[in-house]
Amino acid sequence: MTATPFSGPRASAPGPELIATLPGAAYTDPAVFRREQERIFERRWFCAVRAADLAGPGAFRTVQVGRESVLLVRDRRGEVRAHLNICRHRGARLCTEESGTVRRTLQCPYHAWTYGLDGRLTAAPNLGQMPGVDRTERGLIPVHLREWLGYLWVCLAGAPPSFEDTVIAAATERLGDPTALDRYGAAHLALGRRITYDVRANWKLVVENFMECYHCATIHPELTDVLPEFADGLAAQYFVGHGAAFAGTAEGFTVDGTGGFGRLPGLDDTQDRRYYALTLRPQVFVNLVPDHVIVHRMFPSAADRTTVACDWLYRPEVLASGADLTPSVELFHRVNTQDFAACERTQPAMDSRAYRDGGVLVPSEHHIGAFHRWVTDALADDPS
Ligand code: FES
Ligand code: FE
Repeated sequence: MTATPFSGPRASAPGPELIATLPGAAYTDPAVFRREQERIFERRWFCAVRAADLAGPGAFRTVQVGRESVLLVRDRRGEVRAHLNICRHRGARLCTEESGTVRRTLQCPYHAWTYGLDGRLTAAPNLGQMPGVDRTERGLIPVHLREWLGYLWVCLAGAPPSFEDTVIAAATERLGDPTALDRYGAAHLALGRRITYDVRANWKLVVENFMECYHCATIHPELTDVLPEFADGLAAQYFVGHGAAFAGTAEGFTVDGTGGFGRLPGLDDTQDRRYYALTLRPQVFVNLVPDHVIVHRMFPSAADRTTVACDWLYRPEVLASGADLTPSVELFHRVNTQDFAACERTQPAMDSRAYRDGGVLVPSEHHIGAFHRWVTDALADDPS
């Protein structure tokens, strides 16, 4: 392997109990962030949009993926198309809104080149006087698209990595069973609540925080009330297939210990009264509890800035009943708020000389070392 942005001497080897983190610059250097955009977010599968957010024909969303803006739109036949959000004439951004609905076409606001919802160039001023222009050739640039868990995943790579061998394999590796996640039926759940957090921290700090529970006893009193084993500092993600058991006093996964909304129909007994957390690199967390599913999507926008969209998903019947979701949503909203405050408290220190060589991971955090190796390898120069 050749040099990476993270290579370089360390002050001292930390010893067997403590392993080194990435150095501080990995969380602050704009050049590192740019390389992550190029080598990670623009090459891996990226969870962009909840499919149901594109409710009908003409509904669109724009999403920043690495350095690119991607436009997802539902066509007249109900299929979603993904393209780069760039006009093929002189490069103006086609849709400047984050979301909206168009009628039948997408029209560039600069010189009015007009595209069908399938991306084909359909009209342009004076196009009739340019018979040599191939409308197919001048259509929008397509982006690879895949639907899974009710979300639309995109990949900007020319030849994307296998979705099965990367995203789905990561879920199977964590849960130890390829069918365990399917049983929650996430694709058929409905959005009960979405909260978007503007986190002033590097995306890797958010991932690292999610992967460990060494902090749970300190900052998550409500969560450790429901999941007492988290107070011991071992994250559920430390063990393959392990879900954290609910406290005997907790009727459901709620902020006040009250009951939730009944067990999702596909679950087996081993999944009842347990919480499972999955990290699907690079930017998705999935949280599984018996009556709902919580999905975090991260949208890194700068070395020190990450938007996190958190969705709470329930059976459609629960939402139709008008049930009060507050005790259910409030538990993980507090966890999110506590976690992101911790990340924001850490971010400024990444620039300190105290953290030039990084920090250390205690044994219950050692699995974060695998994440650091994954990032480091992804940023390494391609073997020649
Ligand atoms: Fe879009 Fe000219 S840049 S029509
Ligand atoms: Fe936490």
